[in-house]
Amino acid sequence: MTKKSINNIGVFTSGGDAPGMNAALRAVVRTAIYHGKGVFTIKCGYEGMIDGEIERVNSRAVSNIIQTGGTVIKTARSERFRTDHGRKQAFENLKKFGIDGLIAIGGDGTFRGCIDFYKEYKFQMIGVPATIDNDLYGTDFTIGYDTAVNTSLDAIDKIRDTAQSHKRFFIIEVMGRDAGFICLETGIAGGAESILIPEIKTDVNKLCSQIKSLFDRGKTSNIVVVAEGDDAGGAYEIGAKIKQKTGIDYRVVILGHIQRGGSPSAKDRLLASKLGYWSVKHLIDGKANVMVGEINSKIVLTDMEDSVGKKKPIDMDALEMAMVLAS
Ligand code: F6P
Repeated sequence: MTKKSINNIGVFTSGGDAPGMNAALRAVVRTAIYHGKGVFTIKCGYEGMIDGEIERVNSRAVSNIIQTGGTVIKTARSERFRTDHGRKQAFENLKKFGIDGLIAIGGDGTFRGCIDFYKEYKFQMIGVPATIDNDLYGTDFTIGYDTAVNTSLDAIDKIRDTAQSHKRFFIIEVMGRDAGFICLETGIAGGAESILIPEIKTDVNKLCSQIKSLFDRGKTSNIVVVAEGDDAGGAYEIGAKIKQKTGIDYRVVILGHIQRGGSPSAKDRLLASKLGYWSVKHLIDGKANVMVGEINSKIVLTDMEDSVGKKKPIDMDALEMAMVLAS
């Protein structure tokens, strides 16, 4: 089968913003222009595709953004794109602008949209993984994750000063509805006494004995890091349960969206540049319905269905190690 040549590439960011999305956008725009393609940015993800917020850009449009957080072309979580009507409207708009290939920069919700769109319209799309959650199969890291971990770590270090000074017990909630990657790595790097992730059932009784025993053995501060999606509840709920069982007073800090903002780390800028560059190369080469990722420093392609359908394993040995090191 002869491969269809791409003339005009559309690019958009979608889902939760992640530091490094702008660096990926810059790489996509400049690589496409270098290869003689027309490039169009689509505002607000699928929403802008449906509403026709589409603009042809040149290389200068992405000047000075590699170091910035958020996304200059905006993002959204689109309910309308989940409907047949929304997707049809999006398809009509892409046709109107002569766009025949798309680069989607986002997370699992974004890629689910790509899968539906590909099924219906066979539209050539490549995904670039960008989410602070790091929960996509087919890449060691997603764009934004490293920055988010460092942002959370900085906060934990600061909270540790107060915890230490007051001999206090803190529960810090980090993002991650379904995945504990941020929680695990931030917890280890911040020397957390306990790490609670959605992938493992939390035993509150065991947690209470552990907290009590650490204070009894002379620890002058105690920090539990919990992912927002933990089965035992959020930080407030867990704190109340612990107080009820042990009488130990607690303070809660919910880091929330602070983890999504800020200038991307060097690691995120590099990853975004590479994945943005390779996404365009593969699109031009005729690939479709795949996500571009990096595993063991090698660029790899994964079927979009697998990238969202397969579970990326969490490092259980690291969790055990964290417990030993915090004792
Ligand atoms: O997917 C990224 C993420 O930050 C999750 O960690 C979090 O659960 C969710 O987005 C929050 O989404 P929103 O900003 O739409 O409330």
